[in-house]
This record gives sequence, C-alpha cells and structure tokens, in this order.
Amino acid sequence: MTAQETIDYIRTLAMTALDGAGSLEDIVAWERAFLGAKGEVTLFLRGLASLPADQRPIAGRGGNALKTELTAAWEARHAALSAGALDRRLAGDAIDVTLPGRPPIFGASHPVSQMIDELSEIFALLGFQTVFGPEIETAHYNFDVLNIPKDHPARDVWDTFYVDLPGEIVLRTHTSPMQGRVMEQTEPPVRVVVPGRVYRYEAQDASHEWMLHQLEGLAVDRTITMADLKGTLAEMARQLFGSERKTRFRCDFFPFVEPGVDFAVDCAICGGAGCRVCKGTGWLEMGGAGMVHPNVLRAVGYDPDIYSGFAFGLGIERLAMMRSGVDDVRAFAGNDLRFLRQFARAA
Ligand code: DAH
Repeated sequence: MTAQETIDYIRTLAMTALDGAGSLEDIVAWERAFLGAKGEVTLFLRGLASLPADQRPIAGRGGNALKTELTAAWEARHAALSAGALDRRLAGDAIDVTLPGRPPIFGASHPVSQMIDELSEIFALLGFQTVFGPEIETAHYNFDVLNIPKDHPARDVWDTFYVDLPGEIVLRTHTSPMQGRVMEQTEPPVRVVVPGRVYRYEAQDASHEWMLHQLEGLAVDRTITMADLKGTLAEMARQLFGSERKTRFRCDFFPFVEPGVDFAVDCAICGGAGCRVCKGTGWLEMGGAGMVHPNVLRAVGYDPDIYSGFAFGLGIERLAMMRSGVDDVRAFAGNDLRFLRQFARAA
C-alpha cells in the first residue's frame, strides 16, 4: 500500500466509525482510537521516518491534513452530541406546573370510635358523664365487687385472659368493673357511662371477637326504678335507630343485678324477618342490664336501704353493625381500608 492509500484507508475507517458514534462515550473512544497517543493517525505520522524518501513529503503533508480534517469532524460531532444530551436532560427534568396536585391523605375516625362519640352525646343529654377505666384490671373489680366470688361457677361465663398466674390480674372481660371504681369514689347520685375495650378468651365468628367494645351505664340515686332503666335504654335506641325500632327486655341472670334482663332491638338489617346477623331471630341482643344488686352497693359502702340503681352493658360493635348493616363483627378490627373508608366523614 502506498502512503496515500494508507491515508485514504484510515480516513474511510475513521469517517465510517464517526458516523456510527451515537453517544458522547462513543465519540471519546473514537478520538482515542484515531487521534490519541496510540491512535491510527498518530502512529502513521510517527512511522514517516521508515518510509522510502520519495514518499515522505506526500505522506507528511497528507497525514497532517488528515489529522486536521478528522479533528474538525470530531469537534463538530462532539458539539452536536453534547447539545442533544443537554436537551434530553432538560426535557427529563422539566416540571409540568399545569398537572393537578396529589391529594393529601386524611385519616378518619374509626366506626367504633364514631359510635362511642355518638353514644356519649346521647347519654350526656340524659345526664350521664363519660368516664374511662383500665383495660388491665384486678380480679377484685372485674369479679369480686360485682358479686362474683372466687370459685363461683358464674366466673366461667366470662372466658378470661389472665395476666398473672394466681389470677389476680386480668384483661377486663367487661366494662362493669368501673361500676365499683366509680361508686367507691363518688357519693350518690351517680350517672356515668364507660366506653372501652374488653377481652374474651373465645373463638371468633361473624358475631364474636376476642376483643370488643362495650359501653357500661350506671345510675344510682334514692328513687331509681326499673322504669328508669327501660326508659333510658329505649330512648337510646330511638336516638340511634329512629322511632320505628322496637325494644325488648327479657329476664336474664347476671350476678351483679337483681332483677336482671337482656335488652334487644329488632334487627335493622332484616327488619325482624331473620338473617345471618340476628341468627334468624329477628332480634339483636344489645347487652345486659338490671337493678344494681344490693351486694354490689354494700361492697362499695352504699346503703341498699337508701339507694338503688340500674346498670347496663352494651356491645358497641353490635350497635355499629345494626346501624350500618355490617354482617361480620370481624370487619371492625380487620384493618381493611376499603371497609373503614366507607365510614370516613368529612372533617
Ligand atoms: N357485663 C356484662 C357482660 O359483659 C353485661 C352487663 C349485664 C352489664 C348486666 C351490666 C348489667 O351492667 O347490669 O356480659
């Protein structure tokens, strides 16, 4: 190959490679391959001395011209690619200020909390104060004060989570222990409601949970009768479910009341016809109630010959289920946002 042919060959090689270079990295590599210290053009110029004397001037001129030509071509291509890269980066960073913003996520009060708030308001209008008590409770308040002595079979009614081995500390099985705590610290008259969590060691199904919420009610004064109890609970049912709901009181036994009743409202889900929630009976039991047992009054230092009272305990989830047509109590603690969002109210 003559010197001129070598120059032409390098030029073709270089220009073809430059056409194919699509990125800034490609073009840096290209410069190294052709114009760098060990590049093709550099090596060619360095090899001039070994050429036959007659070819040296042509090769020297041609080689330098090629170097100038390739350098210019490289600079043009480098400039073009740099501009493209900048454009792309600017386009990627661009912010479209006309896009709508992302809405902030607001929390909402849980349906059980909403029911507690509503009940507190209803009972406040009836003269009841809302108080709260401990969820970890002594067996003394959970059972003994409530006329449920140790080793008495009535304790079996409440499947209990014990916190300690001798069984002196329990997760409260109902909100009733606050009856004793409140009465011990208050002179009659007493009118309180106690909403809160209670725990039961029992199997779950559509109407049973091992953790649920109750609302305890207690009224003690000189002339309280069963009629006050019925009137109070019937008024609550009317406020919550409307005047068309029917209430039912039947005899029942609870150690801390005498007489004792269970209190039911006709099932708002099926209108009394019978469904899964009311187990086909048409009635939903809201809880128990009755006239405070003289033994309970005595245990807190009240004289049962002077004072009488009524007490009741309601299941809050049950009330919320009836109100909203929920047919599975497990939904409340299941933490499924699709369920909970349905209860979200505008703040
Ligand atoms: N504590 C009872 C329970 O959890 C419910 C109850 C029944 C509460 C009668 C009362 C009452 O205050 O008088 O099963």
